[in-house]
Amino acid sequence: MKLDLTEVYYALSFSLDAVEKELVGVTTHHAKRVAYLSMLLGKQFGMAGAELSDLVGCALLHDNALTEFIREEYQQGKRGGEKLPFSRHCVIGEENIQLLPFRTDVTDVILYHHENADGTGPFGKKAEETNKKAQIIHLADTIDMEWDLPSLKEQEYAELCRKLLEDKDRRFAADCVEAFLAALDFQKLREMQTEGIIYCLKKELPEEYDEYTDEEIHNIAELFARIVDYKSSFTKDHSLGVAHKAEIMAKVYQYPPEKAVRYYFAAALHDIGKLIIDNQILEKIGKLTEEEFGEMKNHAAATYEILRQIKGLEDVTAWASRHHEKLDGCGYPFGMTASELSKEDRLMGCIDIYQALTEKRPYKDGLSHDKTIAMMRDMAENGKIDREIVEDLNRTLSNSL
Ligand SMILES: [Fe+2]
Ligand SMILES: [Fe+2]
Ligand SMILES: [Fe+2]
Ligand SMILES: [Fe+2]
Repeated sequence: MKLDLTEVYYALSFSLDAVEKELVGVTTHHAKRVAYLSMLLGKQFGMAGAELSDLVGCALLHDNALTEFIREEYQQGKRGGEKLPFSRHCVIGEENIQLLPFRTDVTDVILYHHENADGTGPFGKKAEETNKKAQIIHLADTIDMEWDLPSLKEQEYAELCRKLLEDKDRRFAADCVEAFLAALDFQKLREMQTEGIIYCLKKELPEEYDEYTDEEIHNIAELFARIVDYKSSFTKDHSLGVAHKAEIMAKVYQYPPEKAVRYYFAAALHDIGKLIIDNQILEKIGKLTEEEFGEMKNHAAATYEILRQIKGLEDVTAWASRHHEKLDGCGYPFGMTASELSKEDRLMGCIDIYQALTEKRPYKDGLSHDKTIAMMRDMAENGKIDREIVEDLNRTLSNSL
C-alpha cells in the first residue's frame, strides 16, 4: 500500500493533541508545533530526506503513549500501588514506535525525550549519552509547554531566548540552544503566529510516497488502535477486536490482499475520533443526556475529518467513518441511506455492533454470540442493518468468543 507516512502521522496527531490537551493541559496543536520546531532545528544540524522525515514523525508521536500511561497509572492506583514515574510514558512510547516502519535509526529518540543535558532527567542521561533527535524534541517540547508560542510577544520572545541561554548545558544541549536561536528568530515565530502552524508545517514537509508492506500497514494500524483503546478502559480491546473481525470477514468475502489490508486499516482506526471525546462522556455509566449523546456522536465525524486529510485513503475514510450509519437513514454522522451505503460500509457497522455487544465492560458482561446475533436480527428486521451480513457473521463468528 502506498502512503505518505508523515502525512498519516500528521493527521493522527490531531487526535493525539486532543489527548494531550485533556491530560496535560497544553494548547491545541502541541504535537505539530513540536514537529515544526524540531524540523527547523534538524535542518540546522544538516538533517534532510528520510532522516528529517523520521525526526518529524518522532516529534509528532513523541507522546504517543500518554493514553496508555494514564490507563496504567489508573490501574496501579486502583490496586493501591505506587504512582508510576512519568518517564514510564517514554518507555511505552519507545516500545510502541518499534512497530512503525521508520527508514533511519530512531532508537532511543522517544525514550530520552525528557532527558536534561546535565543528567538530571528521568533516566539520568547526559547530553553525550543521548542522541541528537531526542535532544531536539526535548527542547522543542519543553519550549512549547512552557511558553505560549501562538501568542508570544517580542519582549517575551527575548525573555525566552535569555532563559534558553541560561539553560545551556543544563536542561538543553548547548548546540541545540544555538540551533534554536539560529532557526527561529522573532520574524519566523511571527510567521507561525499569523499563518498558523498547519500552514507552516505543511509548507516545509516534503511529500514522500512510499510503498509499505502489508505487515507494516498492520503495525501502523495496530499502534493507533491501541492508542484509541487505551483512552478508556471501557473499550479497551474494542478497536483491535473490530480490526481482527474485519480481517476474518475480508477472507470470507475474498477481498483481494490490497483491499483486505485497507479494510483492516479502516477497522483499526474507525473510532480514532473518540480521542477527541472527553473521558467523562466515554466512561459515563448510565444513560447519556441528549447533549452528551450529541457530543459522543461527534466521534464518527471526527474520524472522518482526521482520515480525509490523508491523500489516497478515500475508501478507508468512508469505511471507517460510516460505521454508525443505518440503512433507514437514522444513523450518523451523515444520515446516509441503504442506496448510499456499500457492502463494506454496512459490514463495518455490523462488526462494530457485534464487537460492542460481545465485549465486557465494567458495567456489563459481554453477550454470548447467540444473544448478539438475535439482537442484530431484530435490528435487521427493523431495517437498520443488513440482514445477509448478520447471517454471514453468525456463520463465521459462532466459535470466535
Ligand atoms: Fe513526553
Ligand atoms: Fe509533549
Ligand atoms: Fe464508533
Ligand atoms: Fe466502535
